[in-house]
Amino acid sequence: MRGIILSGGAGTRLRPLTKITSKQLLPVYNKPMIYYPLNTLLKAGIKEILIIVAPERAGDYLNLLGSGSRFGVKFTYEIQDEPKGLPEAFIIGENFIDRENITMILGDNIFEDDFSADIKNFKSGGKIFVKKVSDPERSGVVKFDQRMKALEIVEKPKKWISDYAIVGLYIYDHRVVEIAKNLKLSDRGELEIIDLHNWYLAKAELEVAMVNGDWLDAGTFDSLLEAQNLAKQKLQEKLII
Ligand code: G1P
Repeated sequence: MRGIILSGGAGTRLRPLTKITSKQLLPVYNKPMIYYPLNTLLKAGIKEILIIVAPERAGDYLNLLGSGSRFGVKFTYEIQDEPKGLPEAFIIGENFIDRENITMILGDNIFEDDFSADIKNFKSGGKIFVKKVSDPERSGVVKFDQRMKALEIVEKPKKWISDYAIVGLYIYDHRVVEIAKNLKLSDRGELEIIDLHNWYLAKAELEVAMVNGDWLDAGTFDSLLEAQNLAKQKLQEKLII
């Protein structure tokens, strides 16, 4: 299993905080934001991690994280020239992924849970994780039956379909690279991660699992503030970095 942290984008929703730095480098209590998703991958024993960054900020990431040897792992860096959607990470990461399974975590997603078992036991197909939220219109959303079989997946639905948001941690087999390459741009001009989920769903190879602990996408002022409190009150004692 290899890992990707997608840490690109311009963080426009957090201006002016992100005018001179990357969203995922902003402080979340006493650590840069990216330490939290990095911690999630390290805890699961992933040793090879691709960090995808925006060109303007690449030097800052190198300064902060370096080769990875300090964390006992190897980092590879790639540039995402423009944010063209999450699946682009698998196209950029083609050589890195090779024939391995891949866990991708978003650089602004902060989890309390430990995903070690899911990541270590993963064999093939796709696996996504959901969390009940009060604002499903902010996320990819999945409707599923009593046995957690996905019935419908929609990106930021305008009309309510479910309260279960798809969080920013995805496990796929290496086929994801070819699938991503064949996706078409959506109406908002991006490759959509839900199209990958839907590809595996159509093949009956998509597993949906529940996130039990806290989860935040720290991409807005309010969720960033919440993340600070979560980090101070609950996450510090569980961090391994
Ligand atoms: C992205 C995905 C969405 C997912 C979310 C999790 O949205 O497109 O499906 O639920 O991450 O953080 P974004 O936050 O990039 O708008």
